[in-house]
Amino acid sequence: MNIGILGCGNLGGTLGKFWAEAGHEVLFASGQAEKAARLAAECQCGHGSYAEVVEQCSVLLYSVRGVEPQSLCPKGWSGKTVIDCNQPDLPLGFDFKPRDYSLAEQLAAALPLCQVVKAFCLHPVELYHHGADTLRSWGVQTFFCGDSPDDKAKVRQLAVDLGLLPFDCGPLSRAYLLEAQADFWRLFQLHQGQQLVSQFQLVGYPEPPHFTRRPSRL
Ligand SMILES: NC(=O)c1ccc[n+]([C@@H]2O[C@H](COP(=O)([O-])OP(=O)(O)OC[C@H]3O[C@@H](n4cnc5c(N)ncnc54)[C@H](OP(=O)(O)O)[C@@H]3O)[C@@H](O)[C@H]2O)c1
Repeated sequence: MNIGILGCGNLGGTLGKFWAEAGHEVLFASGQAEKAARLAAECQCGHGSYAEVVEQCSVLLYSVRGVEPQSLCPKGWSGKTVIDCNQPDLPLGFDFKPRDYSLAEQLAAALPLCQVVKAFCLHPVELYHHGADTLRSWGVQTFFCGDSPDDKAKVRQLAVDLGLLPFDCGPLSRAYLLEAQADFWRLFQLHQGQQLVSQFQLVGYPEPPHFTRRPSRL
């Protein structure tokens, strides 16, 4: 895939590096051209301005939080798979409040001609540096959602390439669940000091053999 990394921060730089290693064509874009050029040289891939990268790549990792896409690049936002990995700012004292919107749906509203997929918001960036083989051996799960099966199939493959076990959580309207889940993980990873040992796993236990579920109002 041709993957444009929009924003060369911790997560963008890391995912771009590992996708390049997995054989994808990665282009970095940053507000600071020399930063994108340095990362590109380290990962043996390309770089460009935001406008150039948006134009050339069919898949875009949107790792700039709280920045309107049109302020990065006024045009070219059409037919792209846009991966939203963003989380809201951490509240003071980890005092999370309920939200009635998701960052992913806000991004989708700003990009009506693109398909936004919420993904890669769950894991702390450090985790990826264990490398795909180690993550695969650990069975590390990841969750994504979006409205277009074709675009989600690309994101699923990108998760597999990072060594993750991907779960499709359905439409983009569920992005708030993933963002809330990521906040819950951040509570353990950052606030409670559990660090990388705290990875929740979705585990399916079999139903007991003689159990019949009765209709419920809940
Ligand atoms: N780090 C993690 O462990 C992690 C894990 C899951 C999700 N996330 C989410 O992923 C997103 C990126 O995280 P990160 O750790 O990579 O953050 P970061 O290291 O702070 O990088 C964010 C990048 O966004 C760009 N940026 C910030 N403000 C901007 C502005 N006003 N205009 C244009 N560009 C701006 C900058 O790109 P340039 O320097 O290239 O200009 C900056 O390097 C966040 O929403 C975060 O919540 C992070």
